[in-house]
Amino acid sequence: MKTYLVTGAAGFIGANYLKYILAKHNDIKVVVLDTLTYAGNLGTIASDIDSERCFFIKGDICDYSLADRLFGEYKFDYVVNFAAESHVDRSIENPQLFLTTNILGTQNLLDAARRAWVTGKDEYGYPTWRKGVRYHQVSTDEVYGSLGTEGFFTEETPLCPHSPYSASKTSADLVVMAYHDTYKMPISITRCSNNYGPYHFPEKLIPLIIKNILEGKKLPVYGDGSNVRDWLYVEDHCKAIDLVVRLGKEGEVYNVGGHNEKTNLEIVKLTISTIHRLMSENPNYRSLLKKKEKDANGEISINWIDESLILFVKDRLGHDQRYAIDPTKITDALGWYPETKFEVGIVKTIEWYLANQTWVEEVTSGDYQKYYEKMYGSR
Ligand code: NAD
Ligand code: DAU
Repeated sequence: MKTYLVTGAAGFIGANYLKYILAKHNDIKVVVLDTLTYAGNLGTIASDIDSERCFFIKGDICDYSLADRLFGEYKFDYVVNFAAESHVDRSIENPQLFLTTNILGTQNLLDAARRAWVTGKDEYGYPTWRKGVRYHQVSTDEVYGSLGTEGFFTEETPLCPHSPYSASKTSADLVVMAYHDTYKMPISITRCSNNYGPYHFPEKLIPLIIKNILEGKKLPVYGDGSNVRDWLYVEDHCKAIDLVVRLGKEGEVYNVGGHNEKTNLEIVKLTISTIHRLMSENPNYRSLLKKKEKDANGEISINWIDESLILFVKDRLGHDQRYAIDPTKITDALGWYPETKFEVGIVKTIEWYLANQTWVEEVTSGDYQKYYEKMYGSR
């Protein structure tokens, strides 16, 4: 029986990972630590918390005494750190919060793990570690910076972050590696490309576009929409982390990507046409539209759901042009590959949002409106 500390599991990827490992492994216990920022929603994981196999603690990864208490009480074998401030646009507005959570929070968890897991010293003075423990850091391809039209990020690509968010994630990775090099701490790191799928907070591109279409709003595309991201279905990312935590080599970095490069404009156009198609095939979905104009058949009209909704807006400062991952290492070492084709994943994702509008309303009922107006105005 392994006991996990999973931080940030009330957020997008952490929640998907929690559901995935609870379903996959019968013999595990999981403690979730999450401070429930605007991006964390307890409702997302409420059905997973049972006080037998899965426990929830509301708290900050930067809290020193809480971390010590949890390590003392639960004797963790694995720490998987998802908790972070994750949105690039917000990091441009408030860099300090990103540095505090993403760097100092990581270092606080590493230190708590060190206090709990070190068993003694070897003949050279290096700490010795409890057998079978692992600290895993969930990182991002953004640490490598931006690519031109050619090439891919490998694990050897020099780190070259540009935004306050990616600089904070890079710093955290360096601290994690420093604990490995200095204390021989058993760590691993995964660096993943853009995820999409259920429970994605609607400040990020794909869920924001879906939400805006349902509300009949314009679809903001930064700059000329030519920036490229490598989209990965979130469950495939969760599978990769599960493999690396259990079977990945200590001290190693693994890149995780979807082999699925798309420009932002392609993503937005595909989302528009998919919603249009789903609503043609299943007119019941049309009741979710805020605009209730009728078409010639007396059905709620979807004639306006087309590319004229796209609005090119001011570009993001320091906007990275292209990300693309070479995942050869994790494929060769652990047999992982991105199983979900984008054409399938995007339909599953849109159908999930159409079926889960209550969740969208729940997570956007707080400060979301204020944030949206500040970023995009009232369009
Ligand atoms: P998210 O913003 O949806 O969720 C973050 C979670 O962390 C939330 O539940 C939030 O409440 C929690 N949190 C924030 N600050 C905390 C603190 N101080 N203490 C405890 N909990 C705190 O993020 P996400 O998109 O699920 O990303 C998860 C991780 O994966 C992040 O580390 C991110 O950098 C990384 N990542 C994300 C993507 C992506 O496409 N979303 C891709 C690669 C890597
Ligand atoms: O690459 C991995 C990263 O992917 C993660 O580390 C981050 O945590 C995650 O948020 C994501 O970062 P991006 O900045 O790439 O994701 P976002 O959804 O914010 O933007 C995707 C692209 O779409 C990006 O080029 C900016 C653009 N965009 C975004 C929004 C919100 C728009 O054109 N319009 C928008 O309204």
